Amino acid sequence: MNIVVLTGAGISAESGLATFRDLGGIWSQVNLEEVATPEAFAADPERVQSFYNARRAQLHEVEPNAAHHALVRLEREWRKGSFLLVTQNVDDLHDRAGSQALLHMHGELRRVRCLACGTDDRWEGPVTSESACPSCRTQGRLRPHVVWFGETPLHMEQIEAALEGCDLFIAIGTSAQVWPAAGFVRMLPRRAWGIEINPERSAMASSFAEGRRGPATRELPLLVEELLA
Ligand code: OAD
Repeated sequence: MNIVVLTGAGISAESGLATFRDLGGIWSQVNLEEVATPEAFAADPERVQSFYNARRAQLHEVEPNAAHHALVRLEREWRKGSFLLVTQNVDDLHDRAGSQALLHMHGELRRVRCLACGTDDRWEGPVTSESACPSCRTQGRLRPHVVWFGETPLHMEQIEAALEGCDLFIAIGTSAQVWPAAGFVRMLPRRAWGIEINPERSAMASSFAEGRRGPATRELPLLVEELLA
């Protein structure tokens, strides 16, 4: 039984990171057109960098929670087939928890891409107009590694192949309002079982065979226990 897991901002909520679309979420405080599009970056790179610099700095204040750890346990102990974790999250909580088969389809806060040489590199602190690319040393051409609206998500070929061979799909903490991730549940083979873990019904709730309505830190360890029993 091959498992594909999709996570969204809700899995990191109980670690203290705000989601995007819940009450008081990031997109109710900041206009996404001003920080999350290529046009915004072209118009005001400093504004965009400072938004992501603040979010990158926030990663030092949070830790993975029981839901991130439950997915690591599932990956390590699952013997009945393959396991792949696809995350829309740009935080590094899955990485720090110890997930290995992990694809960040919307990029990573702790990486930058150089617009001069195209290389991706790890990046810890703030990015400024003086920052030089670790690979080619060009100054002032680094952009956040985050995928913006209007850009193509990363690793799509690998994700689509995993969905084709998937028997159990588990979506956790995503409102299913951003495509293509929202449509993954509809790309599953007929035999596959879909479980949504979310205190609320997402926009795709009716496409899942099962909905577990509760916080990820409660529902996910329980589900993992059941799967491994
Ligand atoms: P959203 O903010 O749209 O949705 C968060 C979901 O998490 C909601 O459906 C909540 O009900 C649910 N939720 C809240 N607390 C939870 C908890 N404790 N346990 C489980 N679920 C909980 O976030 P995403 O769906 O991840 O794009 O948003 C998708 C993309 O939109 C993001 O990756 C980001 C954003 O614009 C980029 O950064 C490119």
